[in-house]
Amino acid sequence: MNIIVKTDKTGIPAADIEALRPDAGMALDRLWSGNEPMTGWVTLPVNRNQEELQRIQEIADIIKDEAELLVVIGIGGSYMGAKAAIEALPKVGPGIEVRFLGNNLCTDYYWETMQEIKEKNTILCVISKSGNTMEVRTAFEVVKPLMVEKYGSVEEASKRILAITDEETGTLRSEVAEYGYSSLVVPGNVGGRYSIGTPVGLLPMAVSGIDIMEFLDGAAECANDPGWDHDLADYAIARHLLEKQGKEVEVFGLCHSRLFYLGEWMKQLFGESEGKEGKGLMPTSLTYSTDLHSMGQYLQEGRQTFMETLMIVDEPSVSIEIPGGPQKGKTVADINEAMIGGVVSAHRQAGIPIAEVHIPKLDTRNFGQLIYFLETTCAITAMLNGVDPFNQPGVEAYKREMHRLLD
Ligand code: PA5
Repeated sequence: MNIIVKTDKTGIPAADIEALRPDAGMALDRLWSGNEPMTGWVTLPVNRNQEELQRIQEIADIIKDEAELLVVIGIGGSYMGAKAAIEALPKVGPGIEVRFLGNNLCTDYYWETMQEIKEKNTILCVISKSGNTMEVRTAFEVVKPLMVEKYGSVEEASKRILAITDEETGTLRSEVAEYGYSSLVVPGNVGGRYSIGTPVGLLPMAVSGIDIMEFLDGAAECANDPGWDHDLADYAIARHLLEKQGKEVEVFGLCHSRLFYLGEWMKQLFGESEGKEGKGLMPTSLTYSTDLHSMGQYLQEGRQTFMETLMIVDEPSVSIEIPGGPQKGKTVADINEAMIGGVVSAHRQAGIPIAEVHIPKLDTRNFGQLIYFLETTCAITAMLNGVDPFNQPGVEAYKREMHRLLD
């Protein structure tokens, strides 16, 4: 595994972390046992459904050949993983623009997307495991008539709609049967925020030009890494122990601008998986060094309720030398490295527990490793905390209230 995780600056004694390794190991065994509900994502990268992967790639190739724009309609786990990957990763082949809709209810954003659909040859990809999510239904109902108007008939529009949803249930699956949309399946035993390795994440990634096999290879490397018996689970344990010590918040310090949406994905993953029964570190993310000039003061001298996890890309894809001034001859990466060193040193002086996740290079294989590592870490910490990582009763509560108000 290329990703390196360090917990030595968390302030948790190594012996305390080691003492919990057997418990973390038991959590991991449960994840791999095949007996726990909603753990289908655990084996996806290693026991691949080659037929489905081939179909995903074929559909993506057709979309890239025939369209200029893919509009993905989805929210939460049904868009966040793909968005994070598309923003972070290099594209290996020709890709087309992927735009997301249904991830908010902003009229002005809808309007911009509608103008794009009118102007560009478009395929719609509507993604919803339940098939009934209000934001997704609303967006889909708004843009469907646009597609019919643009392509001349319901039949022609339907040829340009791809649905990714549950195999059997939900309104979207019924519409697939009624209108003949192409479709792919969200596996029943994989929840939204763990679904990046299913068609939910893979199809938009492939359309954007990302090598999805490379991504899965990375995830498989992490899944198969023997380090889970010892140090790989330590970050999960440290997070659990820091919460027990009274920390309430985890700040993900993203030390690379292309990790911004990974931070958004992480907030959903950790927040929805761990925030229940009055437990869980509240996840938040900041981009460094940008946010050091807005939030740095608070981190250093504000209420010390948080731990910090630095997400560090060790090597940029290019090198840029500074041609003049006091730092002449150094590279921008040298300054970035000094910035990270400065953060670690200053924040440690302030007593902030710091974990570090090092990504040697921001490429697709490492990103696959990272995603799988974070999913597994999150599930282990939730299990150590004694909560179910795979439900989200609080989200359901808000949906119920919204429906009641609309009715
Ligand atoms: O992680 C989850 O399960 C949720 O965040 C869902 O992804 C989100 O609510 C969207 O649900 P659906 O895919 O059913 O539209």
